Amino acid sequence: MDSRISRIRQNEEKSHTEVYTKEKLYDSDTWLRKPIKTVEELVPLFVHYEEVRILDLGAGVGRNSIFLAQELKENNCQIDCVDILEIAVEILVSNAEQYDVSGNISGIIKPIEEYKIQANSYDLIMAISALEHIDTEEHFFDKLREIELGIRKYGIVCLVINTEVTEFNINNVAEIEPNFEVNLATEVLLKRLDSIFKDWKILKKNVVQQNYEIPRENIRSSLSTNVVTFVARKNN
Ligand SMILES: C[S@@+](CC[C@H](N)C(=O)[O-])C[C@H]1O[C@@H](n2cnc3c(N)ncnc32)[C@H](O)[C@@H]1O
Repeated sequence: MDSRISRIRQNEEKSHTEVYTKEKLYDSDTWLRKPIKTVEELVPLFVHYEEVRILDLGAGVGRNSIFLAQELKENNCQIDCVDILEIAVEILVSNAEQYDVSGNISGIIKPIEEYKIQANSYDLIMAISALEHIDTEEHFFDKLREIELGIRKYGIVCLVINTEVTEFNINNVAEIEPNFEVNLATEVLLKRLDSIFKDWKILKKNVVQQNYEIPRENIRSSLSTNVVTFVARKNN
């Protein structure tokens, strides 16, 4: 692993471990407060299913998966939750117990780039703020193609991906290297999504520019990102 990737991964491990160990799922002022709206909107698409197989890449402590497991329990949902961080998966498993969905959730400790998605095996694959942490652009695009193949007929892909991320030190305006392994131009990603999912029905595609302060050791830092949300349904 090159030094840039290991530096980013060390920083990410530190910041995620801090949030995951200090904050409680669904009882926090942070992003762990609730599932994202785009995931909440997916529930009606599956309520008529007799069984639902879901893959959550970069699942964290289960913010989106625990919610779906509760909502789709009657539909025999089985969710594979992949995360690189052991502590995230440990907390996810204990959250699943707390919310009475242990039987619906499997925690898998693995980098996304090493998790092989079997063809034609999931009704929903989601990756929320996760694919940009794949180690290389080549592996990133390989994974998008694997996701396309991994989804069953009428299945759904739900992606939220940060692009064109820039960061600077608020005190002296010096540029800082963002902690994103893959940092694509927004247009490049949109074009590739259109081409990989070309025969799919697009349910949601938008780009939202966001700026926020992020915690960094000893400095105040401001981050700017174009967040791409992409939801589509496989037609055949
Ligand atoms: C911003 S968090 C989002 C977590 C979750 N998707 C959510 O919306 O709550 C990103 C997650 O991806 C995980 N992650 C980062 N790089 C990864 C990789 N290469 N493979 C698997 N998981 C990774 C982190 O450990 C972290 O839990």
